[in-house]
Amino acid sequence: MGNRCAVSHLSCLVTTSYRPDVRVQEQAMQVARILKLPFVDRDKQSLEQMYSRYMVAGVVVVSRIKTSYHCPQGEFFFHPDKSAMRIKEIKYGKTDQMIKAMDLYPGCSIVDCTLGLATDAIVASYVSGTAGKVVGIESSPIISTLVKIGLKSYEQQGKKEVIEAMRRVRVLNAEHGQYLAHLAPDSFDVVYFDPMFRRAKLGARCSVDRLRPLADHSPLERVNIKLALQVARRRVVMKETRTSQEFDRLGVDFVVGGKHSPIQYGVWVVGNEGRIW
Ligand SMILES: C[S@@+](CC[C@H](N)C(=O)[O-])C[C@H]1O[C@@H](n2cnc3c(N)ncnc32)[C@H](O)[C@@H]1O
Repeated sequence: MGNRCAVSHLSCLVTTSYRPDVRVQEQAMQVARILKLPFVDRDKQSLEQMYSRYMVAGVVVVSRIKTSYHCPQGEFFFHPDKSAMRIKEIKYGKTDQMIKAMDLYPGCSIVDCTLGLATDAIVASYVSGTAGKVVGIESSPIISTLVKIGLKSYEQQGKKEVIEAMRRVRVLNAEHGQYLAHLAPDSFDVVYFDPMFRRAKLGARCSVDRLRPLADHSPLERVNIKLALQVARRRVVMKETRTSQEFDRLGVDFVVGGKHSPIQYGVWVVGNEGRIW
């Protein structure tokens, strides 16, 4: 799995912040065990010294506040990001185009096949509620581990519903094609894909930039849409940019999206017999 991602997670190590207490030290050793990566005492070493001394592409740093991945291009760590704002807008009655494309309501089950920072999964978890189910699949071991820890432990006052939605998301480190192939037909209401955009939104800083060095950049394969259509009871949905050719290449049934939004959602409806592939 790691070799589909931009950085092989094997060229990384795990350490702590400077002067860790016992709890942080134990947590870091546990993260190293989960990721099957070496643990190295931080001592007084800077990250730059660690990159060159141990010849690694990146370092996972566990501190009291967060667990993050550092590399010369920047830092990746879990943050609820835009999910809190989107949940607030949904509460005020604004249409969320992803929720509309998924045709989501309380009690629905969703498998998010490209979990990333889990922003979309948290919003889906909020709408599907306590009677629903959200499973997030992520092929990068470091992204999935850091996001899993963040979803379990992130705290922020005044964000009770967002935190509850986060805690309900179940994270699995897997390649989505392999995961879908092992599911029984009709296992989830909706299967969702948000692969790395074929053309990154250059110039526009976006949250996904932070996970770019670690992410799996493979394009979505039609064989996986076909698997998803067997696994889904109702819909398969894919997110892409308005200018992308991906919806044409993959033959979506229809597209949902705000009039002026650069983002759109391609939808395949289960049981649409008229689809020509
Ligand atoms: C654009 S990001 C998803 C962002 C996410 N929707 C969010 O709201 O934060 C795409 C993520 O999917 C992961 N990914 C790409 N191909 C995958 C695959 N075949 N199986 C599992 N994860 C995959 C990438 O590593 C990356 O983390």
